[in-house]
Formats: sequence, structure tokens, C-alpha cells
Amino acid sequence: MAVALAREAPSSLGAADAVVCERVTVRFTTERGTVTALENIDLAIPRGSFLTLLGPSGCGKSTLLRVMADLIEPASGKISVLGDVPETARRNREIGFVFQDAALLPWRSVMQNVTLPLEVGGGRALPGARSPQELISLVGLAGWEDAYPHELSGGMRQRVAIARALVSGPRLLLMDEPFGALDEITRDRLNEELLQVWESTGTTIVFVTHSIYEAAFLGQKVLLLAARPGRVRELVTVTLPTPRRLAMRETPEFVTLAGHLRRVLESC
Ligand SMILES: Nc1ncnc2c1ncn2[C@@H]1O[C@H](COP(=O)(O)OP(=O)(O)OP(=O)(O)O)[C@@H](O)[C@H]1O
Ligand SMILES: [Mg+2]
Repeated sequence: MAVALAREAPSSLGAADAVVCERVTVRFTTERGTVTALENIDLAIPRGSFLTLLGPSGCGKSTLLRVMADLIEPASGKISVLGDVPETARRNREIGFVFQDAALLPWRSVMQNVTLPLEVGGGRALPGARSPQELISLVGLAGWEDAYPHELSGGMRQRVAIARALVSGPRLLLMDEPFGALDEITRDRLNEELLQVWESTGTTIVFVTHSIYEAAFLGQKVLLLAARPGRVRELVTVTLPTPRRLAMRETPEFVTLAGHLRRVLESC
């Protein structure tokens, strides 16, 4: 069978990995008590790979991205990002983040939004980074450089957000439901475009979604998290051929994979 559904142990800590989590636990304390958002997460994400994260609401997907981005510190356990502590990766601008809402600055043009990270905090692009113009073309917005966010559709705004996240040449791109608010046709198109961006930049991508189809279509691996407390349920290896094409979603291999993901999700 062309689809292998494998349970895998995390590989050992090494330079080949963009992210390594070892027994990472995150807790939030509020007036209503303490929530264990993530418990003992073990995970290794190879450099240059594409991992999708799937799991019920509240299982800690955003929290896991935020730990990788050095926005939250784990209560216990160890995390390394690009061979160092997350703080170093963040300070070196090696991490890009795309949120569900593009969060563009309305008074700045497309080009000015994309170049923003290069202006703040004396920011510079890392070696190998694409130029802002190249990135705008890569996300299909050539000719829109001088447009303002209010002139763009939601899908176009997300493309700007992706170009902006890539402008410093990050080695790790974290995406939290970036296409969740878009219609399905636009989402499909952006999925294909994102794979092209990934292939041409070599950036490691970690992508959160609620869509089984999106997770299966984009990921080389799909990490399924279970809720309360958030923990790894299963790491599924996707062996669909590359380059991925949307028509593959109708193949028996894809349908089998999606069915498996659905069954695991239902038990999370
Ligand atoms: N800043 C915070 N303060 C307190 N609790 C938090 C905070 N952030 C997240 N949590 C809690 O941690 C758990 C995981 O939240 P998280 O946002 O990571 O889930 P998620 O998987 O991204 O959910 P969704 O699919 O709805 O986006 C939830 O129980 C949430 O209430
Ligand atoms: Mg979330």
C-alpha cells in the first residue's frame, strides 16, 4: 500500500533537527486554577521538513508553536530550536510566525508590510534570504506592491503575511491556522502555493490546522495531539508522492490516510 501509517519514536537530539522537544510540559495558572496545556511532549522535527499539527480545540497546538517561538517557557522539559535555546533562534531572527489573522499594518503598503521586519530592532535578513520583491512574486502578488491592505482579499492578505514572515530568511516558519478563515477554493490554492514556497526556500514548516485534508495534503508528517492535558497521540508519516497535487485528494491512498486521521482525532 502506498500510504504508510507509522507510529514513530522521536529521533535523538541532533543537528539534523530544526526542533527537538524532550518531555516539554506547559502550565497556565489563572484565577480559575492551573491548566496543563502540554504534558511531556517528545518530538523531533527534521530540518527542511513540513509537519502539520492536528487535534481538538484546546489540545495545545498554539501553545506548542508559542513554545517553539520563545513566546512561552515550558514549566519543565527541554526544547531546542535550530540547535540552540528558542531565545537564541528568536533573537537571530531564525523564526517566522504566521497567525490566523494576517495582522497587517493598514497604513503601510504591501511592500512596506513585507519589509517591516527588516526595519524594526535593526533587523537584517539572514544569509540566503530572498529579497522582498522576490517574496512578493513568490506568493503571487507581483504588481500589488503599492496596494494597501484594505484593497486586498483575505487570501491576498495572508499571502502578504507569509512573505513578511519569510523576509528575514527564517529557518523555521510557524503557521497557526493561517488559512482557517478563507473559503475552500482559496485555501486549496494557497496550500499548493505554500508547498512551492516550502520547496523553493527549504524552510522547516510547522503548520497548525483543524482540517484533516489540509493536514494530510501539506504534511510529510502529521502530529496528532490529544486534549486535557495536551499530549502526543500519534505521529503519522505521509507517503503520498511529491510534488503534491490537489487531485491526489481523490486517490485511494489519500482517502485511507484521511480516514485514519479522522479515527484518531475522534478518539483524542
Ligand atoms: N495564556 C493563557 N492563559 C491561560 N490558559 C491558556 C493560555 N493559553 C492557552 N491556555 C489554555 O491552554 C490550553 C491549550 O490552549 P491552546 O490555545 O494551545 O489550544 P489549541 O489547540 O491551539 O486550540 P484551538 O484549536 O482552539 O486554537 C487550553 O486549555 C487553553 O485554555
Ligand atoms: Mg490555537
